[in-house]
Amino acid sequence: MKTRQIAYPATECSVKDAEEVLLSFGRATLKGDFVGRFYDIFLESEPAVKPLFKDTDFVKQKDLLKQGISLIILHAKGSFVGTSGLIRIKDTHKKSKMGIPPYLYGYWKTSLIQTVTEFDKDITSNLLSQWHKVIDKGVKFIADGYDL
Ligand code: HEM
Repeated sequence: MKTRQIAYPATECSVKDAEEVLLSFGRATLKGDFVGRFYDIFLESEPAVKPLFKDTDFVKQKDLLKQGISLIILHAKGSFVGTSGLIRIKDTHKKSKMGIPPYLYGYWKTSLIQTVTEFDKDITSNLLSQWHKVIDKGVKFIADGYDL
């Protein structure tokens, strides 16, 4: 059997964690340009990121990103819709297609956590640790598809 390097540790994430994160995401996206701020942070987070988006239409990309985050939260809740959406993203981001190197997902996550911290007026340290668990689960799922 082919062995693959696991880029991210497995994380425990409950339905309650996912529900709290969904509420937080709702509050955060109500306020201002959440996704615009995320891309401002993410594109400057590591020199390898910006060139990958050189031809990107950010009007479309902003909606796609919002959907992507929703799918990660649904996947963490155990929803089939969430998991099947992530299977598609896992496929487009793998080595033989967009070729997103697994280490960049760490920057993606840190940028998202920073944006949530700025935009959710009710953020707490407990809620942030729930965000970490929910994102880790989805990111691991997608990044593990790199070599597939
Ligand atoms: C787990 C986190 C991520 C999610 C949920 C996500 C989601 C998406 C989605 C939904 C798209 C639209 C195309 C498609 O449906 O496949 C997309 C495109 C893209 N993503 Fe990601 N992505 C993630 C992480 C990353 C990372 C870490 C990078 C590294 C830079 C990246 C780079 C890109 C690029 C370059 C595109 C194409 C943009 C274009 O059309 O020009 N993504 N992503």
